[in-house]
Amino acid sequence: MNKKIVVVGSSNTDLVIQTSHFPAPGETVIGGVFNTFAGGKGANQAVAAARLGGLVTFVARVGIDGFGEKAIAGLKKDHIQTDYIYQDPVHPSGVATIVLNETGQNTIVVAPGSNNELSVQDIEGAKNRIKEAELVLVQLEVPLQTVKYTIDLANDLGKKVILNPAPAIKLPDGLYRKIDLITPNETEAFKQVGIVVEDFESASEAATRFLDKGVKNVVITLGDKGAFFKNSALEFLVPAMESVVKDTTGAGDIFNGALAVALAEGMRWNEALEFANCAASIGVGRLGAQASAPFRKEVEDRL
Ligand code: ATP
Ligand code: RIB
Repeated sequence: MNKKIVVVGSSNTDLVIQTSHFPAPGETVIGGVFNTFAGGKGANQAVAAARLGGLVTFVARVGIDGFGEKAIAGLKKDHIQTDYIYQDPVHPSGVATIVLNETGQNTIVVAPGSNNELSVQDIEGAKNRIKEAELVLVQLEVPLQTVKYTIDLANDLGKKVILNPAPAIKLPDGLYRKIDLITPNETEAFKQVGIVVEDFESASEAATRFLDKGVKNVVITLGDKGAFFKNSALEFLVPAMESVVKDTTGAGDIFNGALAVALAEGMRWNEALEFANCAASIGVGRLGAQASAPFRKEVEDRL
């Protein structure tokens, strides 16, 4: 049976221009193809989880505008429950301008708009849905106060919490012990615990710092090197699966959505990381954030 997952987070429309190189400050670069893609860390993770077999409720805030309407319509197509996506009467939907170079790397500037208005009351409104869920997945592209409330509520209801601490901001110390699994990339790990993660040893040291703060399980994503896991009993690295990279936008989001499904289904840690690595490796071979998220069969075939 499909496991119920609640994702709380941002929804953006990604305005993406491909280019041979990134502009320097003050430089104008004539780029290539322009695309509009559905994005936002929360929505990307919701879509990845839904395509991989989760029964997903997405809690978010969009504007009353074309971008918001289109975002909701796209999520519905992926069978995501959208009844807790609030439409903000004042603020516009979130937008991200993304410049994508020839090696699939990107720079991103986000105008959060209505994402910044996702409130404690909005989360409280979705309490019954959280009550029914196997776990809750949240990131940091919505107000920190709302993230904290989500985590507290999930704790009170006895639900596991996965925090993807992206984008990189410093967190209050008291929050860590309420988190079952934290999933930083190298930059986010540095921001949180001050360790430069570049190999197994430094990943292990950074993970230990998270465990010392009270997090129960740590996954550090390492881009094309894969993903590292550590808890009080285990530590290991699962190498990335090979991919011809087109666009890494949303790789971390696909990884997190996949990990949420794997854990909700009760996979063991090593199986869960393999599943998530595989899903993300398919994603980086395609353009777009949500557009690139694979379906369950694709991941199973590749595994
Ligand atoms: P992004 O911000 O681009 O969404 P991220 O920085 O949060 O991503 P990464 O650590 O770069 O996250 O990547 C997440 C996961 O995606 C990795 O753990 C790996 O499984 C997969 N991945 C990333 N880059 C590659 C690659 N070049 N080849 C194969 N898999 C990759
Ligand atoms: O993680 C990728 C996402 O970050 C993009 O879809 C963009 O909207 C920003 O939120």
